Amino acid sequence: MSEGLAASAQEQFAAAFGHAPQGVVFVPGRVNLIGEHVDYNDGLVLPMPVREGTAIAWRSAPGGEIHVKAADFGSEDRFDLSLPEKPEATDWRAYVRGMCALAPVRPVSGLQLLITGNLPRGSGLSSSASLCVGVGKALAEAADDEADSVALAQAAQRTEHEWVGVACGIMDQMAVAAGEPGKALMLDCRDLSRQQVALPHDWAVGIVDSGVTRGLVDGEYNARRAQCESAAAKLGVASLRDADLAMVESGDLDPLERKRALHVVEEIARVGSAARAIAAGDLPAMCTVLREGHASLRDLFEVSVPAVDELVERIDALLGDAGAARMTGAGFGGSIVVVGERDAIGGLPALLARPVRLAF
Ligand code: GLA
Repeated sequence: MSEGLAASAQEQFAAAFGHAPQGVVFVPGRVNLIGEHVDYNDGLVLPMPVREGTAIAWRSAPGGEIHVKAADFGSEDRFDLSLPEKPEATDWRAYVRGMCALAPVRPVSGLQLLITGNLPRGSGLSSSASLCVGVGKALAEAADDEADSVALAQAAQRTEHEWVGVACGIMDQMAVAAGEPGKALMLDCRDLSRQQVALPHDWAVGIVDSGVTRGLVDGEYNARRAQCESAAAKLGVASLRDADLAMVESGDLDPLERKRALHVVEEIARVGSAARAIAAGDLPAMCTVLREGHASLRDLFEVSVPAVDELVERIDALLGDAGAARMTGAGFGGSIVVVGERDAIGGLPALLARPVRLAF
């Protein structure tokens, strides 16, 4: 748990509601090492929780009303737990209300909630998955019960689909609900089987904010998903997880679908290569995976932007053989993930003249 953030949530709760909370939950954000835009194609992914996240202080209240304050926005919401309605705007309220409607475990009484977080918004580190899973955990705690991490992740994904309108995969929600601090989560998005993967002790994972805030990404995201599904249907497979390079090259796909499908098939293979590189402590092999992954998102999946490409190139040049970078998350701005020798990543902020946060 991020102690400082939890303490801050407790203090802000007391100031806002005039009494102490009964509990506080913390859920991290995530950075994805490799396996981008493959979760909704039943693929393999390798995300990792980060230090920053969302803290939610809670206290049961008489009646059936949920009264929630979003400290970082200076705004609040009130609704009936038994029947949350869709808010007009798709802001933080949609995530909270959706999760309250869909959470696997819900208390019978009302609740006061105070939410605060330290994940930079729009940076592609899954602040929304962290928020949704956090709400689900707070509800379960208030019901004096435990919620299974898969059930929480699935409810959070449904919230995105049904309450927010983003047809996302399940990587982010599983990473923040089931990931362990300091470890990557090797997740098979088809059956949700998973394994915690420790990185070699002399490697580090850095996160660089590109400064390009993601905008209008939802429409592009949903379009990519539709292109992948159309390609899979034309190839006669349930999802692109079941396609291979020969099928993609010879299949009756339009040029755009072929590019998207090529990315997915090769990216799933890269996750396997990354897992082997990590197990063997083979940094050069890991760097190849990261560089090829970035090029593929830029050229085949077309979700990068020039400012991010330039920053990735600069970081690669500065690190030489000691590490590599790629865009992480949905794309169109956001963050860059860097994997490399711990010492080299430690020296990166000075060379880059930008902050580099460590994932663990
Ligand atoms: C977003 C989505 C995830 C995943 C990534 C891209 O973070 O929420 O489901 O598709 O983009 O890998």
